[in-house]
Amino acid sequence: MIAWRRALCAAAFAAAAASAWACGEDAGDAGDAECPRSNPECKEIATVEAGAQAVVKRRCVDCHGRDLSGSLTKLPGVADTIQGEPVELYPPNLTNDETGIGTWSDEALAVAIRSGIDEESQALCPQMTHYSQMSDFEVYSIVKYLRDIPKVRKNVPRSVCPPTKTKEQQGSTR
Ligand code: HEC
Repeated sequence: MIAWRRALCAAAFAAAAASAWACGEDAGDAGDAECPRSNPECKEIATVEAGAQAVVKRRCVDCHGRDLSGSLTKLPGVADTIQGEPVELYPPNLTNDETGIGTWSDEALAVAIRSGIDEESQALCPQMTHYSQMSDFEVYSIVKYLRDIPKVRKNVPRSVCPPTKTKEQQGSTR
């Protein structure tokens, strides 16, 4: 029974990943139907491979870099000032080094990815997408992948968030 459900869970994720590839952009995550957050097995069976696919499919690599070591240059496409306030966004180092997410717990990472809240309970800049619908399987696969890839020692400057104005600006969800 357990083995069967695991197989189903993995198959659903593979299908979702495949369809997302086929359709280009976000084709929705059919894996969520079989891998609801409440199903602990989906966290247990998280895999590095699924994480590797997810960071590309979810475009984490577009901002955090191919090796996910973050960026020392500002995120392009964001105005230098918004409402007269300076804005500087540096996608942080997500590798397992202490200059990256090495000291973060798996749970804190899942919260940051889903809710945009960091490990000190501070809101991340809204440009960091909130993947609020992400299943346990996918989010913990990403965490496993981040723990697995080579550590990069890189001190990325702290971002200066734009002034928050409306709820919409704050809560971009996917
Ligand atoms: C549009 C660009 C963009 C995309 C896409 C993006 N991020 Fe981010 N991310 C950022 C920025 C900018 C920050 C820093 C925000 C801040 O410091 O307030 C950030 C912060 C984070 C943090 C907190 C790290 C820290 O040290 O504070 C984590 C974890 C994270 N991102 C993971 C991810 C993952 C995983 C994905 C894909 C599922 C992803 N991000 C996609 C731009 C992005």
